[in-house]
Amino acid sequence: MSFTQRQEALVNSSWEAFNQNLPFYSVLFYTFILEKTPAAKNMFSFLKDSNEVIQGNPSANAHAKMVFGMVRGAAIQLQVKGEVVLEDNVLGVVHTQKGVADRHFMVVKEALLKTMKEVVGDKRSEEFSVAWETAYDELAYAIKKTMI
Ligand code: HEM
Repeated sequence: MSFTQRQEALVNSSWEAFNQNLPFYSVLFYTFILEKTPAAKNMFSFLKDSNEVIQGNPSANAHAKMVFGMVRGAAIQLQVKGEVVLEDNVLGVVHTQKGVADRHFMVVKEALLKTMKEVVGDKRSEEFSVAWETAYDELAYAIKKTMI
């Protein structure tokens, strides 16, 4: 898998913009997920007790930060060594326990890409979307390999 320095830079700079406005983009991300899959609400401990995605929920923000941050980390790994390697199988265990399936990975991918398009606005390009999509796909593949 070849991932260029330019792709990595695109992911990195937009991730920083995402992170600077985390509470806002976190709400957008979960809203996109729930639009597609309302039932996903019951999967997340921090969503299941409320009727809307509340801005400023610390657990929701922390989770969004981890997901986007890990995709950014995957982009760095891809650029440096051409593959994404997880340190352990914790994420496989957590997601198996939560009942996460392939279709959920697709929904989260779409939500992540839509959120990142909002982050960069007019500056979005095909190259930008492909960079985020590739990094996400490779990370999701690495997680799925550790799911039983
Ligand atoms: C938890 C990352 C995809 C649902 C977590 C955690 C991380 C993470 C780091 C915390 C694990 C811990 O407790 O130590 C990711 C990444 C993903 C991904 C990087 C994709 C590349 C998904 C998908 C779903 C999902 C597709 C289902 C829609 C959950 C749930 C939890 C969780 C329900 C537990 C959170 C809670 O309720 O507190 N994820 N995840 N994740 N993830 Fe994911």
